[in-house]
Amino acid sequence: MNAESGFEIKPVYGPADVTGDGAIGTPGEFPYTRGVYPTMYTKRPWTMRQYAGFGTAAESNARYHQLLAAGTMGLSVAFDLPTQMGYDSDDPIAHGEVGKVGVAIDSIDDMRQLFAGIPLDQVSTSMTINAPGSVLLLLYQLVAEEHGVPGAALQGTIQNDILKEYIARGTYIFPPKPSLRLVADTFAYCRSEIPKWNTISISGYHMAEAGASPAQEIAFTLANGMEYVRAALAAGLAVDDFAPRLSFFFVARTTLLEEIAKFRAARRMWARIMRDEFGAKDPKSLMLRFHTQTAGVQLTAQQPEVNLVRVAIQALGAVAGGTQSLHTNAYDEAIALPTEKSARLALRTQQVLAYESGLTGTVDPFAGSYAIEAMTDEVERQATGLIERVFGYGSAVDAIEQGFQKQEIESSAYQIANEIDAGDRVVVGVNRFAADEEERYEPLRVDPAIEAAQVARLAELRANRDGSAVEVALADLAKAAQGTENVLPLMKEALRAHATVGEVCHTLRGVWGVYHPVERF
Ligand code: 3HC
Repeated sequence: MNAESGFEIKPVYGPADVTGDGAIGTPGEFPYTRGVYPTMYTKRPWTMRQYAGFGTAAESNARYHQLLAAGTMGLSVAFDLPTQMGYDSDDPIAHGEVGKVGVAIDSIDDMRQLFAGIPLDQVSTSMTINAPGSVLLLLYQLVAEEHGVPGAALQGTIQNDILKEYIARGTYIFPPKPSLRLVADTFAYCRSEIPKWNTISISGYHMAEAGASPAQEIAFTLANGMEYVRAALAAGLAVDDFAPRLSFFFVARTTLLEEIAKFRAARRMWARIMRDEFGAKDPKSLMLRFHTQTAGVQLTAQQPEVNLVRVAIQALGAVAGGTQSLHTNAYDEAIALPTEKSARLALRTQQVLAYESGLTGTVDPFAGSYAIEAMTDEVERQATGLIERVFGYGSAVDAIEQGFQKQEIESSAYQIANEIDAGDRVVVGVNRFAADEEERYEPLRVDPAIEAAQVARLAELRANRDGSAVEVALADLAKAAQGTENVLPLMKEALRAHATVGEVCHTLRGVWGVYHPVERF
């Protein structure tokens, strides 16, 4: 049997299969194969962080309150597509998408509503936002200031990982060069203004969803990570000033053993890269801390309850692999937005793992297993080879512009699809054990009236704000974008004056242009 990364899984492993560097190592010590903290979950379980958001800010706020009451430990905001692309809800291009895959946020008014009644000094918040990541972070900071919570007390993460958007996810705005400058500006801004903020979540998840194998997922993610480090160094930052706040995001698939190996290999590789290539000294710069989401692509619309079982196995892999934060998918996510009940069940899955399984009692329980150690070595070997191929193009951006990562991912996806079609790879309920008759399932639907409501809110905002103050603030922002000054403080002033997310992004589009991907065949 072959692993998803392509190597052969042996029927029996023994000591001779463990090649690596010969040392399994100690948790909390370089190269952190066994986990970034010496005590891991024995001190504190991972953060249960369920990705959620839909419709208006008020509806999403109600869902966050429900999740917190149900025992979730951190928030994770899903934004709708117009917000992710930097368009307001009343922009013609947004029509039909407002509030669909996440919450619509146009201005500080919406952000205020989104976090109403949530103690921002206690809850850590992740925001899945990339091209306009800095804009949403500044809105969050402005709202926190209104709550009396200073930047120094804020904890959270913005995804802010533009490179994987060009490879796999698609919500980019600007071309790579100004995008990387904005990322570096955000690193510098957070270092002085919001020091506990994780400034980026360098993500393999979406590449995996597009079909990347586990080795490709970590190789292309770490290569992107290296590119961000290079961009920040080129902007004059010192590595230990920003590297402790880089974070990562991976998938957890049902292939449990290979996934545990993947997480362990990724940690070891990043520690070595940061120490040996970038000369990082602060142990926190060497630690790969990551969020995990269970594999959406492996959920099936057929017999959706079976997904509960898949998610439990995937989550087990993430936890045994040492994740810091986890989202478990709801069993109906292959069909529609989760209902309140399915969202609760997804969280309960994590709670069973944390409080019933005994998994929090000991650190890295799979260490020393011949199979796991050998697979950790093998995934590392494959991923290291792929990183070399990426940098054979010059840089990760050069490889992206040549379509390398995309092509590799597509060919993996094609191979897996063929294996499923041929029945060589079993998907329960799909190509084996199909049900004669499916039960009817009632999905949650987003109310289409949300768009009109959001458009009306915007009209009111524009009528009531000081329009000339907004114009001046946006003109100042455009000037900074043309030069080299950090753009974030000027963005913050514009947002404070009630400039919208779309207006800020349009201003930057006007200076930096937009990215047009080159299609290669
Ligand atoms: N010993 C000592 N300290 C410990 C500890 C231990 N055993 N366990 C935890 N801690 C400390 C940590 O050091 C940290 O303190 P610090 O910030 O001062 O260093 C604090 O406790 C919080 O713990 P973690 O950092 O482990 O956990 P967090 O939850 O705060 O952060 C993260 C985790 C991965 C670093 C962070 O980046 C994060 O939360 N990411 C979430 C990303 C996310 O939710 N993404 C959603 C994506 S959905 C998506 O993309 C949509 C679609 O397209 C799929």
